[in-house]
Amino acid sequence: MTNLRNPALRSVADQSEAERGGPGSILSRQSRDHAELDELMRAYDRATSAQERGRLVAEVAERALRHAFAEETVLFPAYRRFLAGEDDELTRHIEGDHQAVNDALVRLQRADPASADYDAVVRATFEVIRHDAHDEEDDLLPRLQQAVSARRLRAIGAAWEAQRRTSPTRPHPRVPREPPGNVLAGIPLAVSDRVKDGVDHALPVGSTRRRLAPLVLLALAAGIVVARRRAG
Ligand SMILES: [Fe+2]
Ligand SMILES: [Fe+2]
Repeated sequence: MTNLRNPALRSVADQSEAERGGPGSILSRQSRDHAELDELMRAYDRATSAQERGRLVAEVAERALRHAFAEETVLFPAYRRFLAGEDDELTRHIEGDHQAVNDALVRLQRADPASADYDAVVRATFEVIRHDAHDEEDDLLPRLQQAVSARRLRAIGAAWEAQRRTSPTRPHPRVPREPPGNVLAGIPLAVSDRVKDGVDHALPVGSTRRRLAPLVLLALAAGIVVARRRAG
């Protein structure tokens, strides 16, 4: 695949793992995660029940959000730092894609899987996720590769992976796409998302205890903080 804006750049999709800087480089990590996301979206097409489609949409949503949050807090700032002023338009375009993905996921979260337009919203969301992955593999990542060493690509890869593991797991309507706003908003959201995720796994859907449990857990956490402050 040739980059239309700059034919000298080689898409990450056309490079071997060694050319990308090894398995830990940001290019290899991005490529693997994009491929896994794509496989989940293809599995949605093959799914035979509404329950399976719902599970796959939830999995795509969580993985895409973690992936994008780590890009906004690690990859894009690194890109802006090492390619200072060269193509800020590109990161702004990709942040626009991320906002579109986030908005679509918020819509999906509120949509009824049994409604007539649910499938169309899912497919529109998948399209933006795929478009975003192409922009990064064909343009942003090859540009970064030309600007920094393979060692630096591995360091950015490790930081991106660490951030991906601790990012928010659910879409939120008003999280800014750029640092420091996304970092400041993302940390407390990641904590509250994990509380909700834990509750979702522990209690049956629709139970009153499940609806109230996040509030109880947050109240307990706040109580522990207050008690520690008093003790200190
Ligand atoms: Fe992205
Ligand atoms: Fe990506």
